[in-house]
Amino acid sequence: MSTSITLESLKAQTFIDKESKYGAHNYHPLPVVIERGEGVFVWDVDGKRYFDFLSAYSAVNQGHCHPRIINALKTQAEKLTLTSRAFHNDKLGEAEEFMAKLFGFDKVLMMNTGVEAVETAMKLVRKWGYKVKGIEKDKAVILFAKNNFHGRTLSVVSASNDPSAKMGFGPFMPGIDAVPYNDLNALEKALESDPNIAGFIVEPIQGEAGVVVPDEGYLAGVAALCRKYNVLFVADEIQTGIARTGKLLASCGNCNNTADECDMSTELKPDILILGKALSGGVMPVSAVLANDVIMLTIQPGEHGSTFGGNPLACAVAIEALKVVIEENLAENAENMGIIFRAGLEEIAERNRLITLVRGKGLLNAIVIASDEDSDLAWNICMEFRDNGLLAKPTHGNKIRLAPPLVINREQIQEALSIIEKSLDAFV
Ligand SMILES: Cc1ncc(COP(=O)(O)O)c(C=O)c1O
Repeated sequence: MSTSITLESLKAQTFIDKESKYGAHNYHPLPVVIERGEGVFVWDVDGKRYFDFLSAYSAVNQGHCHPRIINALKTQAEKLTLTSRAFHNDKLGEAEEFMAKLFGFDKVLMMNTGVEAVETAMKLVRKWGYKVKGIEKDKAVILFAKNNFHGRTLSVVSASNDPSAKMGFGPFMPGIDAVPYNDLNALEKALESDPNIAGFIVEPIQGEAGVVVPDEGYLAGVAALCRKYNVLFVADEIQTGIARTGKLLASCGNCNNTADECDMSTELKPDILILGKALSGGVMPVSAVLANDVIMLTIQPGEHGSTFGGNPLACAVAIEALKVVIEENLAENAENMGIIFRAGLEEIAERNRLITLVRGKGLLNAIVIASDEDSDLAWNICMEFRDNGLLAKPTHGNKIRLAPPLVINREQIQEALSIIEKSLDAFV
């Protein structure tokens, strides 16, 4: 794969070289060096503007450097940033109340990164399994969906079936099993056969797997089966949540409500909800796990925590980031712009056979490229997108995720579609 950049970008090359020399090589970034962002755009160190169609893996749903969120950050930063949880602070309760009421749960446990929130949910599932469900000591099993992505810690990659996430990192955590995604029969068979299963952790749409949208009714079926077998339904909405898929949450039943109408009392909602990324609008790491008392209160003081989790800066930022989503109707905009965008992609696919499939919901979308998973074609297409002013990244080889900030408007969608078509045409 090419990592070279164009000749006029010698300045950018110096930044790339520095990262390569002094930083770990745990990522393979597209060769572009960004120094500024605003709304749906970012600018590189040479002043070139790009549409951001990755949105930091759906963390900047509210758009880059949203002025209201930045203002909340600055105001709180000048007052108080961190107390640790050894003491109370005047922001934590406010943020917890805001989130608990908005999403319809009794309680919130704030953490920092997404994977920490997944770990937290796993611990809650096990505790609930022992204390409430009555599973024998050390026998609890947590079920996952195959081809999942929930982060990079050892216990979370124990649930992965992606060789690159696991190779060389064993031994893995026991008490984990997996069933095929979007397969209610397989789920029921697993739940039926193992009474030690305490929870099923699933992405409402599998993001990293290439934006795999399950069949209509899958999530409702998951909720019903989990209830039937006394197993916790855990929705990892770190990537799909906070308006990305055209609703405040992708897992809230099958309703079509916009964010401000969202009725989280629906029967089909998850028992545990995991949020991250856009919870801060991409401004700082903020994640949260939400659940009702019967689950959340199984964890007692001293059994779980984080120095930075629930810090006042994160709380102020998260409240404002969520208010922006609601007051700017970002769920509705994601839904409407997503429809226009996918229709435009379908039209391009009719003219250019390089796109074999368009899929997604709201503004979480992907195109599947006519090539093998190990081909460089999708990468090279992303390089062409970059040269034409749009940033996106392949996922799982031949899929390109297209997920702009949710503040994007109709004209910008059309301009982005023109860039996508022009870029694809360079390969035929
Ligand atoms: C569904 C899902 N869960 C968990 C994570 C991990 O989040 P983080 O990278 O903040 O640890 C991600 C990140 O892409 C994700 O998409």
